[in-house]
Amino acid sequence: MDKFVVYKSILKGQVSASGSKNSSLPIMAATLLTDETCVIHNVPDLSDVRTMARILENLGKKIEFSGHTLRIHSRRQRNYVAPYRLVRTMRASFCVLGPLLAKRKKAKVSLPGGCVIGSRPVDLHIKGLIQLGAHLIIENGYCVGHTAAGLIGNHVFLGGHFGSSVLGTGNVLMAATLAKGETLIEYSACEPEIADLVSFLKKMGADIQGGGTQLIKVKGKKELHGAEHTVIPDRIEVGTLIAASLATRSPLTIKNVHPLHMTSVLECARRMGAQLRMKKNILTIRPPRKLRPVNITTLPFPGFPTDLQAQFMIPLCLADGVSLITEKIFPDRFMHVAELQRMGAKISRSGPYAIIEGTRSMYGAEVMASDLRASAALVIAGLVSQGKTEILRIYHLDRGYYKLEEKLRQLGARINREKQ
Ligand code: EPZ
Repeated sequence: MDKFVVYKSILKGQVSASGSKNSSLPIMAATLLTDETCVIHNVPDLSDVRTMARILENLGKKIEFSGHTLRIHSRRQRNYVAPYRLVRTMRASFCVLGPLLAKRKKAKVSLPGGCVIGSRPVDLHIKGLIQLGAHLIIENGYCVGHTAAGLIGNHVFLGGHFGSSVLGTGNVLMAATLAKGETLIEYSACEPEIADLVSFLKKMGADIQGGGTQLIKVKGKKELHGAEHTVIPDRIEVGTLIAASLATRSPLTIKNVHPLHMTSVLECARRMGAQLRMKKNILTIRPPRKLRPVNITTLPFPGFPTDLQAQFMIPLCLADGVSLITEKIFPDRFMHVAELQRMGAKISRSGPYAIIEGTRSMYGAEVMASDLRASAALVIAGLVSQGKTEILRIYHLDRGYYKLEEKLRQLGARINREKQ
């Protein structure tokens, strides 16, 4: 197992965002909707992407990964089972369920199980697929289903008490592309990763209106064909770099930024006092000397993303006053708080709220990464803390950030990967 050793650093220079992990994963699952070859560019080589590749190989796909391009072919031998040993390591694997039911008319996909960021049910995925005519039961920890006569288009409402479900929308949308007749998905997630999935499905021949909107209309097709696609830049990686720039008070230039995917995050950085300049897809950020405290509420897109809540907590720990974070998507996603307190941060947490009192300095400690985004937050905390910070269990970070420590090192960060 590896760990990071991080020291207080000032960053400077230019860095490029990689392709989006959360776009790549459902797009890879969507290739199950055809037997033809698909080519996907700008895919980050991450352990989550490798896990999805293993699941697809298990289901009869042959995958070539070269540079950042994935070529996904079909083999003769087909399977319809996504086993627990693979699904439990990555919840996004559950979105093979919709494509399998639509194309192979049966599926046996393990339920993902517990998750460190809180309760993450899949009831909306299941409800939506049942409304498209799938027969689904839960048996021995698996979601087992078939659709003898094929799926049938319907009006599906995907709203929950929190808003909509991103992967739930992906699952139902993919299934609807091969259903008979028309499907209307109401309260679909508007995240850019869903819009990217829609754009890939259209290249495969799907008839879809909407995407990145709360209403998506799909006219089912008899079959879809192979397609070539380039995945969007990773907005969460961009946001993580912005949080690092703010916390270390270092000016940075970030390339490959899609500004419309980042509005709430850029707005938040501005409210904290940063000067931002966007030219084409290049963002220049100039943080203030004194960070202003702000209140952040995580919400579905275009609101502030839950996937950046932990990272933005670090500049708030150093801001000139008191900030409030309200976590509306995953109310228990605060595992990083206890570790940050050990580094001198003044945070009190109550339910979905974290009250952060800005402090002058934080100090290094030995800390434990608990999930992907919390790991990134601890890295940023290490970059602003006096002395040495050792971050254990960084395999979480390797699931979702492409060469983050190399990118930070190129910007001048003192960060090294060592054996734990
Ligand atoms: C996606 O997960 C992302 N994962 C998550 O990113 C992200 O945090 C999340 O969306 C929210 O933006 C991928 O794209 C691979 P949801 P997803 O279903 O789709 C509740 C990261 O760090 N819900 O939109 O699984 C759920 O409990 C990861 O990269 C139900 O109640 O999230 C939560 O409160 C972590 N029933 C809310 O919806 C359901 O059937 C949003 O979850 C499904 C979800």
